[in-house]
Amino acid sequence: MKNFLHLTVLAALAGNAVAQLTTECDPTKKTTCPADPALGTGHLWYFNETLDSRVWTMETGELVETPEGGDFIIHAAGQSTLLTSNFYIFFGVVEAWVKMAVGQGIVSSVVLESDDLDEIDWEWVGYNTNEVQSNFYGKGNTTTYNRGRHHKVDNADSEFHNYTTYWDQDKLQWWIDGVMQRQVNYGDALAVYGKNYPQTPSQVKFSNWPAGQPGNAQGTIDWAGGLVDYSQAPFTMTVQSVRVQDFHSGKEYIYGDKSGSWQSIIVKE
Ligand SMILES: *[C@@H]1O[C@H](CO)[C@@H](O)[C@H](O)[C@H]1NC(C)=O
Ligand SMILES: *[C@@H]1O[C@H](CO)[C@@H](O)[C@H](O)[C@H]1NC(C)=O
Ligand SMILES: *[C@@H]1O[C@H](CO)[C@@H](O)[C@H](O)[C@H]1NC(C)=O
Repeated sequence: MKNFLHLTVLAALAGNAVAQLTTECDPTKKTTCPADPALGTGHLWYFNETLDSRVWTMETGELVETPEGGDFIIHAAGQSTLLTSNFYIFFGVVEAWVKMAVGQGIVSSVVLESDDLDEIDWEWVGYNTNEVQSNFYGKGNTTTYNRGRHHKVDNADSEFHNYTTYWDQDKLQWWIDGVMQRQVNYGDALAVYGKNYPQTPSQVKFSNWPAGQPGNAQGTIDWAGGLVDYSQAPFTMTVQSVRVQDFHSGKEYIYGDKSGSWQSIIVKE
């Protein structure tokens, strides 16, 4: 765990409304962005204990520890939750044990996201407790939403399941309870989806947020099953634990140029 002594705690994001597709400094657009602190190792966190604030930042909303895990709670309109790792991984594995929040318009998510908006998602839409969606984006390209897929999972609200993302330079996989649901190859991502393969150092994020909210794009509201009915609150997503493995072992990741390719990333020891 020595790497954490070197961690820079990033400034909290201001006024986050939507968990996905935000960045403080995009190194493919700006000349000077801070280096990304690396996890550089593997670790398992239980969310029934207060998380080390040098390692995780609760950017928005409420996280409550209970014996079974950490509850991400929305009580009322205007509320949202977002927990972000202060560390980045440059390829790796994320194994999250989650119970989704129930409620039309409410979305639970586990996200890997980089500074130049590469993104890998698990998303549970609150009106369907027997499904999770996988998705990915390259460089914040949302011209089409054709990359999402639906996966069956029983009782996603009342049972913890093992949602594991495996990510390296060649392939991206989503696993549920030890069964692979989906694989996207680097080459396929380029051929089928344009330059959309996620390949830059990413933070791990957990969020329970209201997608069905007036003011959001109608497509987002429809996707979430309609507007949130706050008379049904609170809406709670529970995270039991997360195991994160970084496939590199440096201290920092630095963008060597503005290409946003994995080959351009400098791993600083
Ligand atoms: C948290 O959960 C882990 C795994 O079940 C357990 O070993 C640990 O004692 C729990 N901690 C607290 C504070 O309940
Ligand atoms: C969770 O699933 C991943 C992928 O199949 C597997 O490697 C891992 O061992 C599983 N975790 C547990 C605790 O069973
Ligand atoms: C953005 O994604 C679309 C659809 O997947 C793809 O056709 C397009 O080439 C991508 N754009 C870039 C700049 O890669």
